Amino acid sequence: MAKLNINGTLRDVEVEPDTPLLWVIREQVGLTGTKYGCGIAQCGACTVHIDGVATRSCSLPVSDAAGKKITTIEGLAVNGKLSKVQQAWVEHDVPQCGYCQCGMIMAVSALLAEKPKPTDKDIDDAITNICRCGTFQQVREAIHMAANA
Ligand code: FES
Ligand code: FES
Repeated sequence: MAKLNINGTLRDVEVEPDTPLLWVIREQVGLTGTKYGCGIAQCGACTVHIDGVATRSCSLPVSDAAGKKITTIEGLAVNGKLSKVQQAWVEHDVPQCGYCQCGMIMAVSALLAEKPKPTDKDIDDAITNICRCGTFQQVREAIHMAANA
């Protein structure tokens, strides 16, 4: 049993303590915006925020997330209003297939919370998510758009 705070809602889940947080979010809680890509903390498709820090949930035991504030892509919009990162993604038409994009947006949101005006080097250092559709240039441009919103 673990008690989780996901997007501001407390939930009790019946899982083994070493279950990856990703599977709890998707299977137990039913929030499927957080994606499975590699399972080994490489691709970033499973990125969520743990106490505001971008974290790859496929490689985090659920026991390590208990008592912390977990935010998923479903928790970014407030009262139906998209975050400035989500809005920039829409306006800049970033996604192709879209599979990686929830994780990408979560990683970018954490970066902008820490560095509101990131340089290209800041972006290169922080955003290591993999996009098989190759949207990297659109991602970069949308980050700058969101930073100047
Ligand atoms: S699924 Fe977690 S980093 Fe790829
Ligand atoms: S938009 Fe298709 S993998 Fe990134």
